[in-house]
Amino acid sequence: MPATKTPWWRSGVVYQIYPRSFADADGDGVGDLRGIVERLEHVRDLGAAAVWLSPIYRSPMADFGYDVADHTDVDPLFGTLADADALIERAHVLGLRVLLDFVPNHTSDQHPWFQESRASRDNPKRSWYVWRAGDAPPNGWIANFGDQRPAWTRDEPTGEWYLHSFLPEQPDLNWDEPEVEAAMHDVLRFWLRRGVDGFRIDVAHAIGKDPELGDNEPGRRHSEGWPSVHPRLAGIRRVLEEFDGERVAVGEVYLLDQRALAPYITSGDELHLAHNFVFLNLPWSAQRFRTVVDEFEELTREGGWPAWCLNNHDHSRTATRYGWSRARVAAMLVLTLRGTPFLYQGEELGLTDVHVPPDAIVDVDDRDPERAPMPWVAPSQAGPGAGFTTREPWLPVHPDAELLAASVQAQDAGSDLAFYRELLALRAATAALHSGTYRSVTAAPDVFAFVREHEGRRVLVALNFAPFPRALPDEAHGGRTLLSTHEVAAPGTLAGDEGRIVELG
Ligand code: NOJ
Repeated sequence: MPATKTPWWRSGVVYQIYPRSFADADGDGVGDLRGIVERLEHVRDLGAAAVWLSPIYRSPMADFGYDVADHTDVDPLFGTLADADALIERAHVLGLRVLLDFVPNHTSDQHPWFQESRASRDNPKRSWYVWRAGDAPPNGWIANFGDQRPAWTRDEPTGEWYLHSFLPEQPDLNWDEPEVEAAMHDVLRFWLRRGVDGFRIDVAHAIGKDPELGDNEPGRRHSEGWPSVHPRLAGIRRVLEEFDGERVAVGEVYLLDQRALAPYITSGDELHLAHNFVFLNLPWSAQRFRTVVDEFEELTREGGWPAWCLNNHDHSRTATRYGWSRARVAAMLVLTLRGTPFLYQGEELGLTDVHVPPDAIVDVDDRDPERAPMPWVAPSQAGPGAGFTTREPWLPVHPDAELLAASVQAQDAGSDLAFYRELLALRAATAALHSGTYRSVTAAPDVFAFVREHEGRRVLVALNFAPFPRALPDEAHGGRTLLSTHEVAAPGTLAGDEGRIVELG
């Protein structure tokens, strides 16, 4: 029997593009699809297998695209459907897959479905959203964003309350209504037919809620992760399987309990991958990372494939959160664990968060600093827009763009960009790193070390979380260094903040 080929979404690296901040081709200060096409080679040269685009759909942008007003059109700010087709085609020519963000839990309040739904109690689309009568909010559910605001808003003309897990401008769809599920499946098909290779599913766990609207209790949430979520995700998976190729469903399952997370990926008929926010939210501690990774390994070893990321458009960047000198160690961790790594645009440049002055803040939830535009070219060459834009950018460009710009780092063998490229190339060339088993090993305090093994080839990864030297694990002795975060890798010792990959004899 021929060996089964590892699917691309297991061996490859996914690169997240935040379209507003990637590249602005039409000169309005906001990134767009043509801009992405012009810069796709950067992603190819980095060695990624796929891009995931944050939402590009028509939207009033109350939550910068996570409030969709038309699932089957591109927002004019980003371009047109033809631009989306061109992007998908160009990506495929470059050998990159394309994942779109799919936002199933809610729409914009400007979506025609909600406009109809809110019009009257007997509107045929009334049941597409969650409505309740009463003098007070139907339960104590709290909206994400804002200061503990109720997840309910009372709406004229009917005087009833509608549910919104996020902003009032983002009413929740009612997935207990089969017509909603069918309509959302059609949205998936619309994009799958256009050639997209899969979806990152926004708050995937939220499409199952207690239909009785019970209050959340310690240890049991009624507002998300209800058992009905699992058949619904399986339904999404079946839609992907109507199409050829290896189309993939990646869930943003924001549950801070790995035991609750694992079932989303281990059944074999739901999500292929799910982001792990227990991992993303860890403090910088070797012991904590080891414990969490070991636990998730245990939970997913049979039939589950993890996805790892430490950066995205909702969280402070690792170079800020953990510190610049540790960001390479964090990258080495994400790119060498058993699982699919997700990188977020700009982390390969070592970008930190950008300070946004109070009068320039635009996000409802303080996420502007990690969404600052990509610096492509030194401002001394390209002007203050750093090759991102020729106009005033929608968020400030990084103050160190002169040094951090991609084209500057591409000329420097010691740069973060060069390091990421080497790391991705090593991962791609080393089956133990992209497909091997995982086993953590005994190491000095502050060192997280593990061995990846594939067909007899063993590679040890040792990550020093301390700013001081620490002994390399005994197992590494006599091994051959494949890559270090540092220029000089001393035998037997890890420097402070060093990560090292060692091939064992
Ligand atoms: C998670 C997305 O990543 C975030 O940016 C968005 O605001 C919420 N879901 C609501 O869609």
